[in-house]
Amino acid sequence: MMVEKIDHLGIAVRSIAAARKFYEEVLGLVCEKEEVVATQKVRTAFFTVGDIHIELLEPTSDDSPLAAFLEKKGEGFHHIAYRTDNIDAQLAAARDHGCKLINETPVAGAGGKKVGFLHPKSTFGVLTEFCE
Ligand code: CO
Repeated sequence: MMVEKIDHLGIAVRSIAAARKFYEEVLGLVCEKEEVVATQKVRTAFFTVGDIHIELLEPTSDDSPLAAFLEKKGEGFHHIAYRTDNIDAQLAAARDHGCKLINETPVAGAGGKKVGFLHPKSTFGVLTEFCE
């Protein structure tokens, strides 16, 4: 079992409306969709570069975990997401390895995907998402 590819990179921003101008006007990318992900209390905007995506994330409420992230670290790189064909097995393998899981079982992510996060404390500092 292994992850298949990098699906997307997550970037934390205070305002998608402000940040997407950089991606559109400087990088020339097209925003494919904006979507609120209720389970994560974030609004997301997706851009495609080659065959991976850039996910901009903006908190939708003050108690969003992303609001705490922005408060602590400011805007910038937030997470890497690996695509897998078996997220349950992937999370189980991480658990067996001793990783701290943020989601013990998959939750609903953007685009109706099943997602699960590993805590950066057990992934050498990088918030890690699996998506299926
Ligand atoms: Co993500």
